[in-house]
Amino acid sequence: MGNYYLTTPIYYVNAQPHLGHAYTTIVCDAVARWHRLLGDDVYFLTGTDEHGLKIQQAAEAAGTTPQAFTDSIAPLFQKAWERLNISHNDFIRTTEQRHRVGVQKLLQACFDAGDIELDKYSGLYCVACEAYYTEEDLDGKNCPIHKRPVEHVEEENYFFRLSRFEQRLIDWYSSHPDAVVPEHKVNEVLGFIKQGLQDFSVSRKTLTWGIPLPFDESHVAYVWFDALANYITAIGYGSNDAMFEKWWPVNHHFIGKDIIRFHNLYWPAMLMSAGVELPRGYAVGGWLLVGGEKMSKTSGNVVNPLDLVDEFGVDGFRYYVLSDTAYGNDGDFTYEGLVSRYNSDLANNLGNLAARVATVVGK
Ligand code: ME8
Ligand code: MG
Repeated sequence: MGNYYLTTPIYYVNAQPHLGHAYTTIVCDAVARWHRLLGDDVYFLTGTDEHGLKIQQAAEAAGTTPQAFTDSIAPLFQKAWERLNISHNDFIRTTEQRHRVGVQKLLQACFDAGDIELDKYSGLYCVACEAYYTEEDLDGKNCPIHKRPVEHVEEENYFFRLSRFEQRLIDWYSSHPDAVVPEHKVNEVLGFIKQGLQDFSVSRKTLTWGIPLPFDESHVAYVWFDALANYITAIGYGSNDAMFEKWWPVNHHFIGKDIIRFHNLYWPAMLMSAGVELPRGYAVGGWLLVGGEKMSKTSGNVVNPLDLVDEFGVDGFRYYVLSDTAYGNDGDFTYEGLVSRYNSDLANNLGNLAARVATVVGK
């Protein structure tokens, strides 16, 4: 028995929660409940990622300010998790004050360590990913994940010197062979490192919707630097030392495979630079697909989990999500699959078992 701290990704508020978000959150919830049963003291964190260009553009499209926009979407996630019986201990929004002070502390620590420097850069950017790609990464002219055109961007920005961390990261993963589950996912991580790590920009000068850099207020922090920090700012980094001592390092960051690069390369390097201990573990899940495509707002193929809860009940729905796909693999969502699993596992097998046991007990 001990402490067990686990996190979901914080979800972008450019769209309502969909089945893909619910999937990761329900998996985490099952693990959190399991650890509570074991007698562990559990801290289960989820939340919303509210800064950056993608959110600013979504607010503009909705004809409102980013703050009003995020204030309208974040509660939809809170309500969805309530309806899905999620037992999280905390819900962080990156627009909160506790987050801002922690992000600034982390930026300052990396800057003081000499790992953040002003530089010029030009490259191909996908706004949906909030990430740069090289020509080789692309699918034709498109982002490999969202299958839509990337933009050519040129900027003078502060850069985090990720390239300096290649060997340290390789060494860390080889001395922590159990850090990534399922085990084979570590190959993807090492694959990224072998391709060579590029410095990444940690600021945006043209954007206002973000947290100002403590050492240059004319820039705001790049959304991924801001977002990753949630895992420490929520538990008191920069605001509550005793709480931070108690819960950090995290036991498992639960993520989808789309965000390995950020969690398994950027994040540990940022922490190394700032002199903060590294996460103990990462659990990497596959994608729920619809007709062979990743379910996403950008692909326009989203399924609303709350509609399914109305029809199958919250436990029936959660059962399907947890049982239908082996963790780490991709799963195909089909309505027929949900109905047939409900009927065969819950109604026939488990339902019959319960009925027979009840009869025997009755006799
Ligand atoms: O990436 N199947 O947020 P996001 C399975 N804000 N899981 C899915 C999924 C699908 N089709 N679609 C989404 C971001 N997910 C950043 C994260 S963390 C510091 C910042 C899940 O709203 C999966 O866990 O795009 C994926 O990694 C996450 O939602 C991405 O959510
Ligand atoms: Mg995404």
